[in-house]
Amino acid sequence: MKYVENARVVSTEFLQKGICNLVLECPKIAKDAKPGQFIEIYPDNGVNLLSRPISICGIDVVVGNIRVVFQVVGKGTDIFSKLKKGDKVRVLGPCGNGYTLNDGTALLVGGGIGVPPLLETAKRLDCKSKIAVLGFRSNPFLVNEFARVCDRVYVTTDDGSEGFKGNVVQLMEKENLTADMIYSCGPKIMLKFLSEYAMKNNIPCQVSMEERMACGIGACLACVCKSTQVDDHSKVHNKRVCKEGPVFNAEEVEL
Ligand code: FES
Repeated sequence: MKYVENARVVSTEFLQKGICNLVLECPKIAKDAKPGQFIEIYPDNGVNLLSRPISICGIDVVVGNIRVVFQVVGKGTDIFSKLKKGDKVRVLGPCGNGYTLNDGTALLVGGGIGVPPLLETAKRLDCKSKIAVLGFRSNPFLVNEFARVCDRVYVTTDDGSEGFKGNVVQLMEKENLTADMIYSCGPKIMLKFLSEYAMKNNIPCQVSMEERMACGIGACLACVCKSTQVDDHSKVHNKRVCKEGPVFNAEEVEL
């Protein structure tokens, strides 16, 4: 079930330049939200801007808070980053389908701004081994929080400024990492190489896609991605990332 809530801003802070951490009090959404889902936030500044989909990084059901960590990339996200404690903002959620959590060993693989949704996923997983592989261009974030809930955390950076110099799949090959399930989120090119790694090593893999979205509720088709199977409804090889996704089994979508 989805709700529209007039959420109260609990806090806003920058984790680093351009990466903002926003906590919103929206108890109905928090009660139903699952890791891997997203919320739509409406820039409430009188300008007719579309809502922005932002993946959920944290869910506090007891207090009724949703935490998001996003990159400031345009007018909408700039407005959100400037919200102050006590401000009100309109939020729709929880949207889309999240990860299917199972109790086997887990590899959580994130790239850049695809890292935040894996944090709540790691917290909710009840399994005997959780390994996180977090890739960044440079300047990693959230690593300490992953370290608190995972058995091992690997960091990669493109420029080698921290951790392994290279990408997440190169690190996984080097370390020969395996698990019963891969949970991933990141740029398409990362998901493509990751799903090839998963296939080669016989590991089921869930990918969360980062397509551009508009309506966020399945109505406008702005977010379709190519699927391997024909859609029952439209008879084409399409899936709506906002509705059928953003999380898919890797073999369901063309990367
Ligand atoms: Fe409109 Fe997905 S964003 S259908």
